[in-house]
Order: sequence, then structure tokens, then C-alpha cells
Amino acid sequence: MASSPIGVFDSGYGGLTVFRSIAGLLPEYDYIYLGDNARAPYGNRSFDTVHQYTLECVEWFFKMGCPLVILACNTASAKALRTIQQQDLPRIGANKRVLGVIRPTAEVIGTYTKSGSVGVLGTKGTINSGSYQMEINKFFPEIKVHQLACPMWVPIVEYGEYNSAGADYFVQRYLDQLLSSAPEIDTILLACTHYPLLMEKIQKYLPAGVTAVAQGQVVADSLADYLQRHAEIESALTKEGRRSFYTTDDTLDFDTHASTFFGERVQSEHLHLATV
Ligand code: DGL
Repeated sequence: MASSPIGVFDSGYGGLTVFRSIAGLLPEYDYIYLGDNARAPYGNRSFDTVHQYTLECVEWFFKMGCPLVILACNTASAKALRTIQQQDLPRIGANKRVLGVIRPTAEVIGTYTKSGSVGVLGTKGTINSGSYQMEINKFFPEIKVHQLACPMWVPIVEYGEYNSAGADYFVQRYLDQLLSSAPEIDTILLACTHYPLLMEKIQKYLPAGVTAVAQGQVVADSLADYLQRHAEIESALTKEGRRSFYTTDDTLDFDTHASTFFGERVQSEHLHLATV
């Protein structure tokens, strides 16, 4: 049966936290999820490398018939999205669309804060790119953005240690560092798709009056709005409620981790990319 699914991409498992919200809100569409686990994490990689890896995966989604691809990865959104939209799309898919997670989040985060001070936590790649600072200030020029990279949080989640005492230590450490540098922060954006798995611990160490915001629902709401406004893309999508999962690494390992991120059982297929 012909299929034109929405593609959802991440460097690994993390994007499943976003996909979970998208599929929950818009269950009627067909979806393909791809985790590039063989090359994850992307967080410390250069602009060129993240662009090359992400582009290769976007081209695969297009071959699979996706008219629309969501980069459900902050690092890929920060380091590859603009080049793909401006430089690559005219060549590889002029009538296709690739969207990221930074803009939809930046568009709303200013409505959460009363103090006008927002903390942004992400990978080194996302934080050093300055993308959140720039995008948030486009929509909310008066808001102060305080950023901090949390390089230990992705490995803690990747290795399934999110309930351990080690996780407590590193969650408290980065939150203390952020809040001691700017005690007026009342909203903390989790700008990495892995971090919602640490939400319980994050909430445990947040002082009263400080809210942690995960992106899944924000991105899902924004996608629903996008599809309403773009009939040319929406009408090209098939709606049989089908979901398939691919990983560039071991499927058994992916399926074991993926259920934690996605909230239900996942059965993946292996994708061999020429350069992996
Ligand atoms: N998915 C990535 C992000 O949201 C985190 C994992 C990685 O570093 O590849 O930034």
C-alpha cells in the first residue's frame, strides 16, 4: 500500500520522547522513526559532521516517501537544519519540508516565565551554537536567556542510569550551577530530547517556583498547527495510523531502550547507511 509518512529523526532514542507526544496528539498519520544510534551521540560533533549525518538520514526519509521530516533532535536542529532548508532542499526535495524543534519551542517559552529569566539546558553542541538564545530573543527580545551545557545527562540516560544515585548527583550539580549563576530564573527549558527521562529527578532538585519545561507537547502542538496551515503538505500525507521504527545500530538494543522513551513496545528494523 502506498505510504507518505511523516519522518521523525533523532541521533538515537531521545527523539522518541517527542514522537510520543506527536503520535499521541496526531495518531491518524503514518510515521517512520529513525534513530541514528550507530553514530550517536551527535552532541559533541562538529557542524559539518552533524550536517552530513543528518542530511544522509533526511535523504533516506525522502526515498521512503516522506513529504515532511521532523528533526526531533536539538543538536541536529541547531547544527544542520538551516543548511538543509536553505542549501540542500532546493536540490534534493524542493516540495518537501524539514522542520526542527528549536523554533516551535522558542515561540512559546516566553509565555511560561514571569521573572523574564529563562534557563536553557542542552548538549554542548546545542548550547555552543547559540541557537536558543537567538531564536528566543527573536520572539521575546526582553527575556534573559541563561544557557548551560549538561554533557553528563545524555550518557546517564543512554546507559539507563536515570534512576541511579549518580543521576541525582549530576542533576543537582547542573541545576545548582545554573541557578546560582542566575537565581531569578523561574523557567528551565529542557532543550535536549533525552532530558525528559530525568524529569522526576529534575523536579526533585528544583526550588519552589521554578518550572521545568519538556519539549514534546510543545513540538506536537506546533506540528498540528503547521499541518492546519499547510494543506499542500497535509494532503500529501497518508493517514492509516501506521508506525515503523528504524535504527542504524542493533535492533534488539534499540527495542529494549526505545520502549522506555516511547512508552510502549517498539519493534525496529535495521537501516544500513553506506557511510555508517
Ligand atoms: N537528541 C540529542 C538532542 O536533543 C541528544 C543526544 C545526542 O547528543 O545525540 O540534542
